[in-house]
Amino acid sequence: MVRNVAGDMAALDAEDFYLLSGVEQGMRFSEWVRRDKLPDYADLTVEEVDYRLDRCLDRELVQRKTIQYEGYQLTFEGYDALALRTFSERDTIDGVGSPLGFGKEGDVYEVQSFKPLALKYHREGYTNFREVNREREYTADRNHVSWMYTARKAAEREYATMEALYPDISVPRPVDHNRHAIVMDKFDGVELGRAKLEPAQAVGVLDLVLRELTAAYERGWVHADMSEHNVAVAESGVTIFDWPQAVPTDHENAREFLERDVGNLVRYFGRKYPHEIPRDADIAAIADAIVDGRFETVRAVAKE
Ligand SMILES: Nc1ncnc2c1ncn2[C@@H]1O[C@H](COP(=O)(O)OP(=O)(O)OP(=O)(O)O)[C@@H](O)[C@H]1O
Ligand SMILES: [Mg+2]
Repeated sequence: MVRNVAGDMAALDAEDFYLLSGVEQGMRFSEWVRRDKLPDYADLTVEEVDYRLDRCLDRELVQRKTIQYEGYQLTFEGYDALALRTFSERDTIDGVGSPLGFGKEGDVYEVQSFKPLALKYHREGYTNFREVNREREYTADRNHVSWMYTARKAAEREYATMEALYPDISVPRPVDHNRHAIVMDKFDGVELGRAKLEPAQAVGVLDLVLRELTAAYERGWVHADMSEHNVAVAESGVTIFDWPQAVPTDHENAREFLERDVGNLVRYFGRKYPHEIPRDADIAAIADAIVDGRFETVRAVAKE
């Protein structure tokens, strides 16, 4: 797990961030950045680089490896610190609060602003990252795209999709984006998988979610990772979140993803509320209705 660096921020100087940005710069060209290139990348003297490297190593914001040369790389903590610094310079956030959830591919914290918001750090490539380093102990510089690029691309995709969908579809309002991190409105409610619905409410909630998927499809998007873990349920309605893997409706596998999304949801409800949700709901027919923009209610498409 990646340590929460919010507590380190106050102790870091502007020069520490020059160093971190310098390492980030160098990582565009190689996985491990040569120490002797850092003064240039970071725009610091050799002595400053030595001093700042020690501070950043102590806090595990960078890591060192000696291959044919002495190289440095940001850690996820270092990358988080850079994103946090940017958000605070832009006045997007004033401070980081408690965790809201840790998923497979993202760490989410509550953040303070004029109102509570949510900050999601993308972690795609995190596990790989450790394994990759083990496997490639001595084969530097192939594949320097790695985790940093993967996580940044995922955040960019998620943010762009949310911007395309908000406010017509019930997604968290996108607020800001930098590197591998996005800031969005904090949603109300609990994950569908942990919500205690009255059986009588189950059909209504499933319908609400399918309506959102219909509206998203109409705007050109399929979620493609739909499950009870990526829907929040509140008194006020449902929120669909976690969009990095969404595909446009003209993607060659869009139909397959849509059916999988619908199937995941309907089967979840069918297991949990067997008396309320038709077990034989026709997934393909629901997907057809979504594609045609004529979804009405899940009961209407249940097989006879
Ligand atoms: N805007 C938000 N407001 C409040 N809580 C949130 C918000 N976004 C995410 N969370 C919480 O953080 C958890 C992880 O978020 P999300 O599903 O986006 O990340 P993920 O790591 O990509 O998930 P997965 O494990 O499905 O890949 C969510 O289950 C939810 O509890
Ligand atoms: Mg999720």
